[in-house]
Amino acid sequence: MISRRGFFRWLGGLALAGLSTATYALAIEPGFRLRQVTYSFTPPRWTPGLKLKVVALADPHLAEPIMPLSRWLKIMDAANAIEPDLIVLLGDYLGTHRFVSKELPIDSVPSSAPRLKALLGVYAITGNHDWWGDPVAQAAGHGPLEVQRLFEAQGIPVLENKAVRLEKDGLPFWLSGTSSMVAIKRPGHSNFESRADIPGTMAQVTDDAPIIHMAHEPDLIVDLPERISVTLSGHTHGGQIRLFGWSPIVPSMYGNRFAYGHVIEEGKHLIVSGGLGCSIMPVRFGMPPEITVLELG
Ligand SMILES: [Fe+2]
Repeated sequence: MISRRGFFRWLGGLALAGLSTATYALAIEPGFRLRQVTYSFTPPRWTPGLKLKVVALADPHLAEPIMPLSRWLKIMDAANAIEPDLIVLLGDYLGTHRFVSKELPIDSVPSSAPRLKALLGVYAITGNHDWWGDPVAQAAGHGPLEVQRLFEAQGIPVLENKAVRLEKDGLPFWLSGTSSMVAIKRPGHSNFESRADIPGTMAQVTDDAPIIHMAHEPDLIVDLPERISVTLSGHTHGGQIRLFGWSPIVPSMYGNRFAYGHVIEEGKHLIVSGGLGCSIMPVRFGMPPEITVLELG
């Protein structure tokens, strides 16, 4: 039988373990850890000989204390050190969780983004939080968002239902992006309007070169055409809490189906980044902030 002293020692140990876990999940993992997650593969409908290294930075959600500007600058330096051909920014630039100690100005990411260096350039899309945080766009029911104008003022194209043709070593490919599928909030619970224009975006693709597509919310993959070689998404943050490949809370209509990682369904390839910041709650456990790297071809 356990002694009284033994019982209190056990209880103290349990409390200490709980406190350490909470400290780790609320401060260390979201605010200090950073990992690189690399996917190397040849997507379908790919051009032989085309080799591309793409770095994706998703959901930085800049706000103190978890993602101050100083941490974002270090993350961008780490992205540059990978020496990518292309850097893509997958939306949700400002922090909105419940424990923000200091909000940062809307131009924080656009103004700092020219620090990013990639052979073929830096391209961005917008996320749902960029839409929800723009009262003018919400009232009008359409963009362009202020953050888009700020990126463009820095020479960084925002692929808001747009496709551009790029080349590496003389071999062409398309980079396309669609807008958020939960862009406009309407009265009522979870009542959103999409501003993703898939047909309008795909109509800009005028030859057979492979397509790399950016869609902030991975749920859009269900509606995207098989013609796309690979789609990159963020938004879910891998659930922020993820154990044994399962997340209890995922902002998706499909639960864990598109929560994280490399998903292949019906010939479509989707990479869902675990993202960098936090939303709703500043907590991460088993899903450290990540720089996502694709080595294609
Ligand atoms: Fe999002």
